Amino acid sequence: MTRTATASANTNIALIKYWGKADEALTIPTTSSLSLTLGGTRTTTTVSFEEGARGADTVTIDGVRPSPAQVARVSRFLDLVRHRAGLTAPATVHSSSTVPLAAGLASSAAGFAALALAASRAAGMELDARALTRLARRGSGSAARSVLGGLVLWNAGKDDETSYAEQVVLPTAQPDGPPDLAMAVMVLTQERKEISSTAAMRATMGSSPLYPAWVESSAVDLREALAALRSGDLPRLGEVVEANALGMHAAMMASRPAIMYWTPRTLEALRAIAALRHEGMPVWATIDAGANVKALTSGACGERVAAALRERLPGVSVWLRRPGGAARIEGVTR
Ligand code: DP6
Repeated sequence: MTRTATASANTNIALIKYWGKADEALTIPTTSSLSLTLGGTRTTTTVSFEEGARGADTVTIDGVRPSPAQVARVSRFLDLVRHRAGLTAPATVHSSSTVPLAAGLASSAAGFAALALAASRAAGMELDARALTRLARRGSGSAARSVLGGLVLWNAGKDDETSYAEQVVLPTAQPDGPPDLAMAVMVLTQERKEISSTAAMRATMGSSPLYPAWVESSAVDLREALAALRSGDLPRLGEVVEANALGMHAAMMASRPAIMYWTPRTLEALRAIAALRHEGMPVWATIDAGANVKALTSGACGERVAAALRERLPGVSVWLRRPGGAARIEGVTR
């Protein structure tokens, strides 16, 4: 018998970053993080467990076989699901993204959130949202947050049970309504990053004298960001978002040897954002483990900010994304 489930999940961009694991095997982070799930960035994944079959898992991503290391990562994750469900069957996994890889949005976050939902359902498990965030976390830390829509808080916790993500519900927003936020994603480079986040986190934690300071300030930043969201104060939110990301990169750059994801274009984008802010636009930068820059702004100013960034950075694609929904099941067959 074959059991198949298809699920999809959007990617998310952290407003207050996750950078470092207290427990690598379980992906327990050193800090709690806060993110915005982005609409229109879904990865869709189909998982089939071939009961009675033998052999290895088969994986394709956008129709292509990924590297042996990537397949091994997916198989390790599927082993967790098989173990819990009491299955031994190999799986076939097909994953496709609506966002081109070049946009820097087709991340492991959406991929492992969709995989967690599809694989658990194909294995016959009905996990609640919290349990699903804990499972997705084991695939990639940031995937815990892509299980949920809108604003999401990943509580660092101290063990598997207590390290989970939950939606942040604001008193001022409509129930389940998206906050009035938008992200302009600037595609500055299409090159793959030289060092994976997992390896870069390990190096930062192990060698950067600035890392403990970033961890300490991160707790304060998170409280500040949540307070800013509750009071609907976008400038207060934007300032702490930008500072938290730049602090994370400063800690990376102080690693020995240095980890430097930035290119000259990264700095150009940061300058363009600062210039727009001086002109009165509500816009702040954030940067993940790569050279591309994302600009946080209000939903109302999104189009204007994206257009202004395109004008200031000729040749750069700018994608405007609004808050998006949770991971969902697209279909199950038995
Ligand atoms: C800079 O979730 O990709 O984007 O858990 O090792 O798979 P692993 O790392 P990953 O790291 C994301 C780091 C970040 C910040 C963030 O999304 O919070």
